[in-house]
Amino acid sequence: MPRPHRKFIDILEKSMVVADTMDREDLMFTYKGIPYPTTLCSYEVFKAMESFEARSDDMILAGFPKSGTNWFGHILLELITTFEKKTEVEPTIYGEEFDEFPYLEIGDTEKYQRMKKIPFRRVIRTHLMSQNLPKSVFTNKAKILLLLRNPKDLATSFFKFSKVMAPFPTYESWDEFFKDFMIGNIPWGSYFTYLSEWNKHADDGHVMPITFEEVKENPLLGVKKIAKFFELPLTEEELKKVAERSSFQAMKNNSKETHGVFGNVLFRKAV
Ligand code: A3P
Repeated sequence: MPRPHRKFIDILEKSMVVADTMDREDLMFTYKGIPYPTTLCSYEVFKAMESFEARSDDMILAGFPKSGTNWFGHILLELITTFEKKTEVEPTIYGEEFDEFPYLEIGDTEKYQRMKKIPFRRVIRTHLMSQNLPKSVFTNKAKILLLLRNPKDLATSFFKFSKVMAPFPTYESWDEFFKDFMIGNIPWGSYFTYLSEWNKHADDGHVMPITFEEVKENPLLGVKKIAKFFELPLTEEELKKVAERSSFQAMKNNSKETHGVFGNVLFRKAV
């Protein structure tokens, strides 16, 4: 079982406290035309991110907020840890470095220098649109799993999440939220622009699109497809275990340990 992202929980907790003291209109700032949550992202970190050097064996998970990034991020960690144990590679993924907040664009300005020193295969999540990722992700052909979810379900999940996550602006009504969702006035911008920008890379050999729905319908097939894409040869039995340990129920049961107080918020309904 991959270790919990302690730093992930810490940063989220701090951002909740700070966001609680802020006025609603200050909760988002704009960078390159896209709104981001002020308590999680910053101009300085975006600038520092330009120094991020992608590697061809990086395992990148690109997904809009609420598309299932915690679920698929967990699948990637389960796959790599199973592979490392099997091949007797020192399971460095359990090391301190991996407590790093897992989203590329969130953290402190020094994190990209620390990431350079990570000696093992890196699992990196991002909510960013393709045009805003560091250029080396494409020039070095890092492998990208592009996660997509039905916009109606994603919007519902986002709306519910906004109600309980102080860093995201809250909405009194669905209609109010829906207007902002449609024009992209929500954290990380428009899901429709996100889709059309990423669509430009759908045929890149190092990008593999996958949908929330297909993996929900057939988790084992989804896990197999992901393992093949990242070139992690595992047995049927091992892949089955990864799928089981990544099920909604398994992750929800474990969520206090992995995500602290955010467990109930992140593992909501999954339908
Ligand atoms: P709902 O709010 O519709 O329940 P993210 O991790 O990007 O924030 O996405 C959260 C969504 O993924 C939530 O959707 C959550 O329930 C769902 N989810 C989380 N873990 C899951 C799993 N193991 N299987 C299926 N869905 C999962």
